[in-house]
Amino acid sequence: MREEERIIIALDVSTKEEMRRMLKMIHKPGCSVKVGLELYLQQGADVVRELKAGGYSVFLDLKLHDIPHTVNRAMRGIARVGADMVNVHAAGGSEMMKAAIEGLEEGATGKRPICLAVTQLTSTDQVMLENELLIEHPIIDVITRYSELAYRSGLDGVVCSAWEARKIKAQTSEHFLAVTPGIRLQSDRADDQKRVATPAQAKELGSDYIVVGRSITGAENPGDAFNRVFGEWRNAKWKVKN
Ligand code: C5P
Repeated sequence: MREEERIIIALDVSTKEEMRRMLKMIHKPGCSVKVGLELYLQQGADVVRELKAGGYSVFLDLKLHDIPHTVNRAMRGIARVGADMVNVHAAGGSEMMKAAIEGLEEGATGKRPICLAVTQLTSTDQVMLENELLIEHPIIDVITRYSELAYRSGLDGVVCSAWEARKIKAQTSEHFLAVTPGIRLQSDRADDQKRVATPAQAKELGSDYIVVGRSITGAENPGDAFNRVFGEWRNAKWKVKN
């Protein structure tokens, strides 16, 4: 794969017109993009087909969490539509994660899409974990345990903070992918992201892919912003062998 494809642009918009306008401004045919619930629920699978027809790699970020049979059938359909990367909540358990992989294998016409696990949402903190979810363990231990479960269930990696990547790889495998949002260029505002990393830091911390939204899409010139993100990424070295 081309190194540029390791930068995944979050297309957090709700219409095809906004999506097309954004892609035109970024002007990187064949780059990687992330389609989330907002765009998918309003525009449907056509969006993925259009992006694939345009040569883009698509991370379909729907975070599935349901009974194994339902997730299996949903993944079969998603693979048919042509997404390259998908995800599920590890909290759905090992049976559900295995069912997701089987569905992707059944639906894929070529290579099976990469399947990632979400361990804990970044909106969950220690207080919520204990008081609402009744999980009385340090959040980093929960993230690591869920990552191990995903690894043993045959998933390809996790969505995590760049700052967690090294620990997760140490507990699973250096080949277990770390896909990390919460990325900001040095000059950007953090917005609502709490523990941000720059593209260079993320790579040094072991990220295999970075998900970048507002640092690119909110910039005055998104094309230049992409080049800055990619330039930082390309010049940094992976400090974890992966
Ligand atoms: O604009 P920003 O770079 O913060 O966008 C990050 C993208 O990654 C958004 O689409 C957000 O939903 C997603 N994301 C995240 N944190 C996670 C998982 C996904 O910010 N833990």
